[in-house]
Amino acid sequence: MKRDGATTRSAAARTGPAIVVDGLTKRFGERTAFADVTFDVAYGEVFGFLGPNGAGKTTTVRTLGTLLAPTSGNATVAGLPLTEANGVEIRRRIAVMPESPGLYLRLSVAENLEFFAGLYELDDRRARIERALRAVNLLDRASDPCRALSKGLRQRVGLARALLSDPEILFLDEPTSGLDPLAARDVHDLIDGMRRQGVTIFLTTHRLAEAEALCDRVGIMNTTLRTIGRPDELREQLFAKTLQIATRDPLTDPDAVFGGLPGVEGWHDGAAAAGGAAYVLTVTDAELAAPAVARAVVGAGADLLALSPSRHSLEDVYLQLIDEDVEARTR
Ligand SMILES: Nc1ncnc2c1ncn2[C@@H]1O[C@H](COP(=O)(O)OP(=O)(O)OP(=O)(O)O)[C@@H](O)[C@H]1O
Ligand SMILES: [Mg+2]
Repeated sequence: MKRDGATTRSAAARTGPAIVVDGLTKRFGERTAFADVTFDVAYGEVFGFLGPNGAGKTTTVRTLGTLLAPTSGNATVAGLPLTEANGVEIRRRIAVMPESPGLYLRLSVAENLEFFAGLYELDDRRARIERALRAVNLLDRASDPCRALSKGLRQRVGLARALLSDPEILFLDEPTSGLDPLAARDVHDLIDGMRRQGVTIFLTTHRLAEAEALCDRVGIMNTTLRTIGRPDELREQLFAKTLQIATRDPLTDPDAVFGGLPGVEGWHDGAAAAGGAAYVLTVTDAELAAPAVARAVVGAGADLLALSPSRHSLEDVYLQLIDEDVEARTR
């Protein structure tokens, strides 16, 4: 899809990363919202920002969105150093969809968007509003007062508002919070569409499956940045690779069966179904180990019922990291 104004501007600005955060800290008096956070986001990337309640996600978004001044550290947003003097120009290149959409409930959907388009001093307002409403599938509700909309529909108006300015970087703070699965899927499709247009997306969410499906990379926050990487990299860093095996009856001598097989480092009992047996093998390389393991089990005269590599989700990674934090705090 052809976009106006912003496309040209973003193409010109696309040298270096979209966002650079370097040792950024924000304190509110005694309370530290986030501390010494360092990461980059590339242009065109969908970056997920995860963390428990109070981890500092929204405060980071508000800081990078120029709504709050950092206490210390540096950042660059859309190619511009994050300073008070650059505030207006940065805001021209980005859009922030906040946790709560902040709409005027007595105004209609279209009137809200007209109001914000005016506030942002946008040209060609009618066409922009129509495009934004079409993008979030709300054209037919344009003249409804916002107070008459459900929470999910208001959320979509908030998204339409963020789309008005054709931003280079879109900050979405929990865009699917409180949405039903279908509405959430619509938002996912919308994010995918924005990605295809080259918009950089910074997404906070508590839905880990959402982050896993949508994000090129994720950062896991808990006041400090705990880890950052592609979901599959994080899984590999945190979890040993394993093969799960189920047999109809227990093996007589598992050590003899699994010992010395290529790629197999060790084994322990797994959670077996009633009457059966299960084993978990730690492996260096599942593709190398699996055929050898299958042959060895069958060769030992056992009925092999299942053999599958471990699958850890981003949720496993998240829970592991955040649990470590909770444990560290109670020590
Ligand atoms: N204006 C403020 N004044 C004082 N403390 C604040 C302010 N805004 C945020 N905080 C504190 O900063 C910390 C981080 O809050 P933040 O809203 O960034 O968390 P979050 O990760 O977005 O959490 P959630 O998942 O609940 O939205 C919290 O302890 C919060 O109470
Ligand atoms: Mg928040």
